[in-house]
Amino acid sequence: MASPIQIPNDAPFTAEQRAWLSDFLTQMLTLGGQPATPSGPAVPVTVLYASQTGTAEGLAKKLLKTLKKGNFAPEIHDVANYDCAKLSSEKNLLILTSTYGDGEPPDSATEFHAWLMSDAAPRLESLSYSVLALGDTSYPDFCKCGIEIDTRLESLGATCIYERVDVDVDPDAPYAIWSAGVIAALSPGGSGFPSNVEAESEPLPTGYSKTQPFPAAVLQNYNLNGSGDKQTHQIALSLEGSDLNYEVGDALGVFPLNPPDVVDEIIANLPFKPSDVPAPNGSEVSLRDALIHHYDIGSLNKSILQKWQARSGSPFLRSLVAADDKQAYDDFCWGRDLIDLVIDHPADFTDGEEFVSVLKKLQPRLYSIASSPRAHPGEVHLCVGVVRYESHGRKRGGICSTFLADRLSSENPPRIYVHSNKAFRLPADAATDVIMVGPGTGIAPFRAFLEDRKATAAPGRNWLFFGNPHSATDYLYQDELEALHADGVLNQLDLAWSRDQKEKLYVQHLMLQNGAELWNWLQNGAAFYVCGDASRMAKDVDQALLQIASEHGKLSADEAAAFISQLKKDKRYQRDVY
Ligand SMILES: Cc1cc2nc3c(=O)[nH]c(=O)nc-3n(C[C@H](O)[C@H](O)[C@H](O)COP(=O)(O)OP(=O)(O)OC[C@H]3O[C@@H](n4cnc5c(N)ncnc54)[C@H](O)[C@@H]3O)c2cc1C
Ligand SMILES: NC(=O)c1ccc[n+]([C@@H]2O[C@H](COP(=O)([O-])OP(=O)(O)OC[C@H]3O[C@@H](n4cnc5c(N)ncnc54)[C@H](OP(=O)(O)O)[C@@H]3O)[C@@H](O)[C@H]2O)c1
Ligand SMILES: Cc1cc2nc3c(=O)[nH]c(=O)nc-3n(C[C@H](O)[C@H](O)[C@H](O)COP(=O)(O)O)c2cc1C
Repeated sequence: MASPIQIPNDAPFTAEQRAWLSDFLTQMLTLGGQPATPSGPAVPVTVLYASQTGTAEGLAKKLLKTLKKGNFAPEIHDVANYDCAKLSSEKNLLILTSTYGDGEPPDSATEFHAWLMSDAAPRLESLSYSVLALGDTSYPDFCKCGIEIDTRLESLGATCIYERVDVDVDPDAPYAIWSAGVIAALSPGGSGFPSNVEAESEPLPTGYSKTQPFPAAVLQNYNLNGSGDKQTHQIALSLEGSDLNYEVGDALGVFPLNPPDVVDEIIANLPFKPSDVPAPNGSEVSLRDALIHHYDIGSLNKSILQKWQARSGSPFLRSLVAADDKQAYDDFCWGRDLIDLVIDHPADFTDGEEFVSVLKKLQPRLYSIASSPRAHPGEVHLCVGVVRYESHGRKRGGICSTFLADRLSSENPPRIYVHSNKAFRLPADAATDVIMVGPGTGIAPFRAFLEDRKATAAPGRNWLFFGNPHSATDYLYQDELEALHADGVLNQLDLAWSRDQKEKLYVQHLMLQNGAELWNWLQNGAAFYVCGDASRMAKDVDQALLQIASEHGKLSADEAAAFISQLKKDKRYQRDVY
């Protein structure tokens, strides 16, 4: 009998559920200890993934590896390169998709999603499918893309062979359940694994990673802005002793600590005497440590309001949850944190264990890496916009950005890992021209790109659109950009100071003003990159690109859309937006 599958301690299950699941998965993968032999023809399976930052892609590849060991004939496709015409002849389809923006598909899935939702999608009566939907309950439209694909496939007549699993950030445990479930469902007879697959525990990652982050020494940490409202920190961290490597385009994951003063205020307002509580990793720690190191005390969402309301006598919360209105939830959550529930809507938790059971695990934040390892060996740089605002009578801050700006110390170093982002890469051919649009903190990866293009003496031309409120205070990396411009590394530099004149001036306005030249660059094979705000800027830049294609390329609306879509397929239009 193979050793039992371990369910991570921080998976959202009781000890009893964990034991049952471990038993179930172990049996599933070993067929009661008897290595099964392949029987019958291999089962065809198509694995399709739609991923923005690589999580769904990684899981899809892991699933492919598992399927290959069984009696399956699997193939895998990035949805961006999938020929939709094949869908009606597929037998078994496993889709792994994340959700981005405001409940939107990842960039790579825009076209597939639009096609599937349209009248062009065929009936799919002979298709069996299952969906793994990746998302985050902090967002109002949790797992929307996966839900929409699941619902649409069903309405087109396809048969769901294993109920969709919605993943709230941490994929390990739900992925284990879903993959075991779909494999069982795909197996002839509907149960068990059809092949000679034996349980194989994942090799434990060696070295520093998301599960074992590296405590980095801080080399630089200063505000890039002059006096004014904005605060954007240049942070340089040492990778010495970590063996961590990165490429330009990658992001850095940072595990923050919550602010101790807010934690103390929460504890002072709780209705029980603080005692030790379980941390998500299974250890027992003081309530104060748990709230500083392990649990999310930041923004609210529907899920926590529902759990909180069940323990609170607040008539307001009762009516909010009863109404179940998305807009009402969003309006209440905006500008409020856990402290507001604790003080304004007290709940009758009997002890710390019950209290932390309604909280989510504190998650790391990603930051686009702002340095090239060629220019700064052994270092990684970030460009962090510090989130500070006042709402409902309280001064507040973003958890991670204020941790990085205000609370780093040798006892509390940033714990980091490299998050590879293969979907945001400089062109393989160094002679290709590069157009970069990165207002605000969106400059981060382009500083890295430019450093890299300089270090490799890449012959392709470089064009940067940068913007921020005021030239006097918000010209991030001014000296460096001007030096690169003077050196001829940065061939064209267009700056949009949004508040230096009466009318707003944004990067997309400068793109349109330079439309003919931008179109020439694209016709010459240039790659186009966007980084920064997803909710407004990236959408407006996308519109500007469409407008340039139709005006300067003399394309109809449909042709311009097809042109942009082809740019994406050719990986000549890449976005790193948040
Ligand atoms: C791939 C990727 C790359 C990224 N790169 C960068 C980067 O290079 N630089 C960078 O600075 N960030 C970057 N980010 C964003 C970064 O990960 C964090 O989201 C950001 O720093 C905020 O995190 P925080 O913990 O400080 O704030 P949180 O504690 O997460 O708080 C943010 C929340 O606060 C609330 N809030 C914020 N402002 C207000 C307001 N005015 N009124 C009311 N409520 C408000 C909102 O609910 C908001 O969602 C990136 C994100 C991704 C996914
Ligand atoms: N979705 C998110 O959660 C999100 C997105 C982006 C940034 N942030 C956070 O906010 C903080 C500061 O962000 P930032 O420094 O990156 O700056 P930013 O807020 O994105 O602003 C940068 C520049 O973009 C301009 N801008 C505003 N709307 C635009 C639009 N529709 N099209 C083009 N440009 C537009 C701004 O002008 P005006 O301000 O004058 O209008 C400003 O000049 C950071 O902490 C960052 O992480 C969060
Ligand atoms: C900018 C941004 C927007 C997101 N929007 C949503 C959303 O609307 N709904 C949701 O459930 N998850 C949302 N997420 C969470 C992602 O779906 C989740 O992190 C997922 O694991 C990412 O998988 P991927 O790396 O394969 O793209 C968002 C994440 C980011 C960074």
